[in-house]
Amino acid sequence: MPPINLQTFDNNHQFVAWFRHASPYIHTHRGKTFVLSFEGAAVSSHNFRHLMHDIALLHSLGIRLVLVHGTRQRIERNLQERDIKQQYAEGMRITDGESLEQVKAACGQITSDIRALLSMGLSHSPQSYANIRVVGSNFVTAKPLGVRDGVDFMHTGVVRRVDKAGIIEQLDNQCVVLVSPLGYSPTGEIFNLSVEDVATSVAIALQAHKWLCLTEVNEPMSEDGYLTLQEAQALVETRQDAESFRQLRNAIRACENGVERVHLIKRNIDGGLLLELFSRDGVGTMVSRDPFENLRQASIDDIGGILSLITPLEQEGILVKRPRDKLEAEIHRFIVQERDGAIVACAALYPYTEDRAAELACLVVSPHYKGQRRGDALLAFMEQEALQVGINRLFVLTTHTAQWFQERGFVPADLDTLPVDRRRLYNHQRQSKVFFKPLEFKDKASLNGNQTLAAF
Ligand SMILES: CC(C)(COP(=O)(O)OP(=O)(O)OC[C@H]1O[C@@H](n2cnc3c(N)ncnc32)[C@H](O)[C@@H]1OP(=O)(O)O)[C@@H](O)C(=O)NCCC(=O)NCCS
Repeated sequence: MPPINLQTFDNNHQFVAWFRHASPYIHTHRGKTFVLSFEGAAVSSHNFRHLMHDIALLHSLGIRLVLVHGTRQRIERNLQERDIKQQYAEGMRITDGESLEQVKAACGQITSDIRALLSMGLSHSPQSYANIRVVGSNFVTAKPLGVRDGVDFMHTGVVRRVDKAGIIEQLDNQCVVLVSPLGYSPTGEIFNLSVEDVATSVAIALQAHKWLCLTEVNEPMSEDGYLTLQEAQALVETRQDAESFRQLRNAIRACENGVERVHLIKRNIDGGLLLELFSRDGVGTMVSRDPFENLRQASIDDIGGILSLITPLEQEGILVKRPRDKLEAEIHRFIVQERDGAIVACAALYPYTEDRAAELACLVVSPHYKGQRRGDALLAFMEQEALQVGINRLFVLTTHTAQWFQERGFVPADLDTLPVDRRRLYNHQRQSKVFFKPLEFKDKASLNGNQTLAAF
């Protein structure tokens, strides 16, 4: 038998683990509509080719993609080369007839470059066999920005409407749709638009599942890379100035108008798009129309998620083994904490109403989410739920976690303090220690602001 190459084994092992880990995301994203926008600077960057490979990969995984590209840098280069002086007002380009020609040229150059890169299919390259059809059209109707404070913006415009049906038709035909920041008017005029305006409008028109916005600047906006719509709204109130907060305002507008999620991802992270879409915590800032996390009563569909949390602990002897049918029968006793569709924590409450006591069991936080005091949030929630149904003492039976409970107000107690029915079930082989905690009402608002507390 040949010797085992441990190095290869390690790599193989990591690859398989990574691929398996990505599979739920692959299932979730398939068939969804994503708008992906990037600025002109991305097109001339060294890793643009990699971005195109990643886009091809997303397409082959069944994601319906609309690409919105910027042109700013290319326009500036074209104007400089021709010694045309550019004028700005209110941070926007004033597009006169001469610069409009350069805007059109820049769009033509960039769309050709993108088409060329997405057409690549050399064998052994990331895009071999991809066969992507890229389609662009007059999907955006625009109107002039007009005269503001005495300044005529001429051919600089804003989006008036998006041809939703036209885009959907192309997506249904398995095409990647490419939208340039140019808009056309019913009078036959052409307008220079901002990439953000086009991307936001397209995402809203399509009611996209995601708008992935590759940004040139990206200040950290939240510790865990996640903002609810309300949090994002509160944050922009405090910062009117910074560039990345301008992007955040667009993200808010998109979410307020029906886009499920907006991801602001630093463009210069190689593979940032894949990391954001296929890894647990991503690399960008996500603004979500709906709560990303939610604490709720478990249902039969959560059995798999709960088992994946508790089985390793049962094997270690930290939790007592629960047969699957028992878990199914008792599922209504469980609450789960769900994060982006995955169960990351759970706990169960078994009331002994006559004794006005309840057992807290199966309190588990996924090892991937340690250090965030989720256990405290679950415990606080369970305490309040117990109080709601007239329970005034919580008890736990534990072999490994005594100290954690003691630090949270549980005190050691004798076996005979347990409700009689529970005492009969006591497993004398396990020799679990018993702890009780007297309960008192707390303000629910002080529990965990991020969570939707469902009645249990
Ligand atoms: C107990 C548990 C739910 C806490 O999860 P958590 O809130 O994510 O814990 P965190 O990682 O945020 O740590 C919070 C604190 O608890 C401490 N802690 C975690 N596990 C502990 C344990 N078994 N004993 C004592 N302290 C513990 C941590 O050290 C930390 O304290 P510190 O910051 O002062 O060092 C989690 O460790 C778990 O799932 N344990 C296995 C299942 C279990 O034993 N459940 C209880 C029986 S039902």
